Amino acid sequence: MSLLEIENVSKRFGGVQAVDDVSLHVDEGEILGIIGPNGAGKTTLFNLITGTIRSDTGKISLAGADITTTSPTKRARAGIGRTFQVVRPFLRMTVAENVMVPVLVHTHKVSEARNKAVALLEELGIGKLADLDVSQLTLAQRKRIEVARALATEPKVLLLDEVLAGLNNREVLDVLPFVNQVRARGISIIMIEHLVKALTSVSDRIIVLDQGTLIAQGKSDDVLKDPAVIKAYIGEEDNVEG
Ligand SMILES: Nc1ncnc2c1ncn2[C@@H]1O[C@H](COP(=O)(O)OP(=O)(O)OP(=O)(O)O)[C@@H](O)[C@H]1O
Ligand SMILES: [Mg+2]
Repeated sequence: MSLLEIENVSKRFGGVQAVDDVSLHVDEGEILGIIGPNGAGKTTLFNLITGTIRSDTGKISLAGADITTTSPTKRARAGIGRTFQVVRPFLRMTVAENVMVPVLVHTHKVSEARNKAVALLEELGIGKLADLDVSQLTLAQRKRIEVARALATEPKVLLLDEVLAGLNNREVLDVLPFVNQVRARGISIIMIEHLVKALTSVSDRIIVLDQGTLIAQGKSDDVLKDPAVIKAYIGEEDNVEG
């Protein structure tokens, strides 16, 4: 049994079949990478997994339990954590306060939540940022805070939506070990990225979405050679070599 199983899930928005009969699974401690051109349905797939949108078809299970119609809050409590493609921290709060918000999902005492938030930041090697306002941080630091906030919900599986987007090469190399650190905590990860090389360097396996359909999956070396994948990327700004 896989930790997260998605079977034949679809989502249509008006005339757009955003996700079309997609099945995938993620095992415990595994990093699954997702690539695909703009509009391929990647973020929609994350929204279906977290429950912010409901699938039209199929089934989603977490640790063997059917969560297809479970509310987003209950899915979060059951262990599905995420970051957002557009980072949206509370700018006028400190880093520690930002991490406290999701900690309060599990802990209702404020002092305890603060201790947990600071402990998590220290564990992640960014304890010195705790008392800074988020508005003072660089984008790379904010990305790390986003991951810390998602981790604070104590996920079993963490969905990372383009955490590397907007970072320069050096910053990407700073943030990537962070992803491995998360996995080292025993957390499974599904990671969407346009930066194919960076993604494949940390992923155990990748899948490719194109126009809502899963067109290839497997080890990155094989997948990136797949003619269907190369075809999907022709004319794309971020081509498959990116
Ligand atoms: N809430 C929505 N209402 C209507 N259409 C939507 C909605 N969300 C997504 N779509 C459409 O569904 C398709 C898939 O969008 P999605 O955001 O999942 O793509 P993506 O693969 O994440 O793209 P990107 O790489 O640009 O982030 C697009 O055509 C998009 O316009
Ligand atoms: Mg997206």
